[in-house]
Amino acid sequence: MSLGTNGFADKIIFRRNLSSTNLLARKLAVAGAEEGTVVVAKSQRAGRGRLGREWASPRGGLWFSIVLRPNISVAQSSGIVFVFSLAVAETLHGKYGLKARTKWPNDVLVGNKKICGILVETNSTGASINFSVVGVGLNANFRPESLPLPLRNVATSMEQELSRKVQLKKLLRAILDRVEKRYCQFLRQGISELLSEWKTYSGFLNHEVKVTDGSSSVHGLAVDVDEKGALILQLKDGTTKRVLVGDLFLSVDSSLINVPP
Ligand code: BTN
Repeated sequence: MSLGTNGFADKIIFRRNLSSTNLLARKLAVAGAEEGTVVVAKSQRAGRGRLGREWASPRGGLWFSIVLRPNISVAQSSGIVFVFSLAVAETLHGKYGLKARTKWPNDVLVGNKKICGILVETNSTGASINFSVVGVGLNANFRPESLPLPLRNVATSMEQELSRKVQLKKLLRAILDRVEKRYCQFLRQGISELLSEWKTYSGFLNHEVKVTDGSSSVHGLAVDVDEKGALILQLKDGTTKRVLVGDLFLSVDSSLINVPP
């Protein structure tokens, strides 16, 4: 079924319930699915998050994955997450009037609460990519109370922010449209310009943050994200530190001040 994007997501597979859209998309990719194949589920039994975490996926959310076959190196694939988080932030802001902010490495926030997470899983041989599956989990038509307890205070949803439900098909079409534009830009021009635009939506740059990798944490001022996708922190002693993997937490008194164009 086509959603009317310009050919990018012509093949869209809808399922009522899946273990994970990323898993089905990956199976399809292994079996030769074309770039742009999309898998959407109304709910997921075993939604997958970053770093092996579970992703709560009740009905009402927009849970989908897309197969990409970019002709780029594995090193360059760190840019894919920015394509998607920028596309989601632009859609939430441009089409729904929400003050969406990107948060390194893979989140979109509204009012300091997570509304969307992105999971990029890349299958490669040596330095070349066979395919990437990009999963997008967007809290749309449910209230945060539908999420497991630990998430309720740190997550929000479109329904919560807009006090109404949204049409999921329209939302998906709008996101895929932005994704297609940003993905083409990324393949044509590289990461530089796209990353600059991503930064205009950032809700953490120039703020004091804590970054944890599970075993240790580091505090500092988030000063930049470089073209390899690393977070650059300025530490108290004036030195800088590049962080490649971790979870970023804003200091409690941080306010999100960057205003997107
Ligand atoms: C994260 O923030 O940890 C990333 C979450 C990604 C969740 C989405 S929901 C659709 C797709 N299918 C999955 O199993 N995970 C991604």
